[in-house]
Amino acid sequence: MIKIEILKELSAGDLDDINRMLPSLTELYDGRTVNEQAIRKAIASPLHEQFVARDESGRIVGMANLTEVISIYYGSIAYLEELFVAADVAQRGIGSAIWEEMLTWCRQRGIKRMEFTCRPERVAAHNFYLKHGCKVRNTDAFRLDI
Ligand SMILES: CC(C)(COP(=O)(O)OP(=O)(O)OC[C@H]1O[C@@H](n2cnc3c(N)ncnc32)[C@H](O)[C@@H]1OP(=O)(O)O)[C@@H](O)C(=O)NCCC(=O)NCCS
Repeated sequence: MIKIEILKELSAGDLDDINRMLPSLTELYDGRTVNEQAIRKAIASPLHEQFVARDESGRIVGMANLTEVISIYYGSIAYLEELFVAADVAQRGIGSAIWEEMLTWCRQRGIKRMEFTCRPERVAAHNFYLKHGCKVRNTDAFRLDI
């Protein structure tokens, strides 16, 4: 039985689980560990949630982070980063369970739109997002390295 929760504390075991899962996030994984400070910052922030999926043993097997981004014209939107599920439990509905919890969180806050980017090579993720009703936006994604 998988449980989805919003992380309120980060234990040493959680950190180990997350680090073990990192290779499932990207084929570009370069061996680095997760940024512990960033997770703690996310937990403390009122505009940010770190969603995790836990299995029966309490192991974290999926996660996503969602941030409320304030637009003074459109109202808030939610920005999604780093949704991923451990490779050994993929395609068992865990990503979808996290997704539903994120939508509930958005609805509770009156947020009517979620945005994110996803590289075309991520076929599983593209299928997943399309299956969940997302549309590909026709816009340019900019980046500035600071
Ligand atoms: C995207 C991801 C989170 C989905 O999690 P999941 O728990 O496997 O997804 P679910 O079991 O809830 O949903 C399954 C659906 O996802 C899609 N999907 C998942 N794995 C897939 C695969 N290997 N190939 C094709 N489609 C896949 C399909 O739409 C599938 O629905 P279907 O079974 O009816 O075809 C997971 O594949 C993942 O962690 N991918 C790597 C990290 C990543 O790319 N994250 C997105 C960053 S933008």
